[in-house]
Amino acid sequence: MKSKDIHARTPATDHGHTGPPACVQVRGARQNNLKNIDVDVPRDAFVVFTGISGSGKSSLAFGTLYAEAQRRYLESVAPYARRLIDQAGVPEVDVIDGLPPAVALQQQRGSANARSSVGSVTTLSSLVRMLYSRVGEYPRHQPMLYAEDFSPNTVAGACATCHGIGRVYDATEETMVPDDSLTIRDRAIAAWPTAWHGQNLRDILVSLGYDVDTPWRDLPKKDRDWIPSRKRRRRCRSMRV
Ligand SMILES: Nc1ncnc2c1ncn2[C@@H]1O[C@H](COP(=O)(O)OP(=O)(O)OP(=O)(O)O)[C@@H](O)[C@H]1O
Ligand SMILES: [Mg+2]
Repeated sequence: MKSKDIHARTPATDHGHTGPPACVQVRGARQNNLKNIDVDVPRDAFVVFTGISGSGKSSLAFGTLYAEAQRRYLESVAPYARRLIDQAGVPEVDVIDGLPPAVALQQQRGSANARSSVGSVTTLSSLVRMLYSRVGEYPRHQPMLYAEDFSPNTVAGACATCHGIGRVYDATEETMVPDDSLTIRDRAIAAWPTAWHGQNLRDILVSLGYDVDTPWRDLPKKDRDWIPSRKRRRRCRSMRV
């Protein structure tokens, strides 16, 4: 891509004013196939780079502008925290002026999984965790935490109940016993097999002295809790960042 190929309009920069400059000024960009281009990208505007595939749009947007914004930001970050961030590297460019802090959403993202959130997909979570770590107020006697200690995807940061998923999948009494008017002999516990194994479980209860001929709902609560070995379904309320 040469300078004349750049489609961004170039409003005059208002150097006379204080406050943020009107343009991001790129001079001598040579990332990948960029041919020493100069371009002024308007700030506080929706700007689109267009061109055929391979013309260098990503090289300018991600490889140059975002890489430089990230490089500057990382200079202010403690070395131990830098390793949490995918680093774009140092761009091939002479000068970039007027560059604000930047966030990049890549063209192709990996597929989402149960641990994905808006924060993890955009990598904003990394920044929030770092903020918590660096400028959060800690309880008395609590030593400072590393950024990853605020991540649900680490052992230290994950909630012990939901392991960072935000939800606990557990059988409830209602799913185990859909019709509580049935007795155990009449297969109140729907999850038990119907053939020999189910019969065996029922015989064990009889041997242990449990009543298998009373409707499920009339059995003592401690028996209803123990027999299907269930736990109450819980929703995890811990915050995921
Ligand atoms: N990491 C890299 N190392 C070396 N060359 C690269 C790298 N990334 C891209 N290129 C090359 O730089 C040129 C510009 O690629 P770039 O991805 O910037 O184009 P693009 O305009 O964003 O294309 P598309 O529309 O397909 O996304 C291409 O010739 C490409 O092969
Ligand atoms: Mg591209």
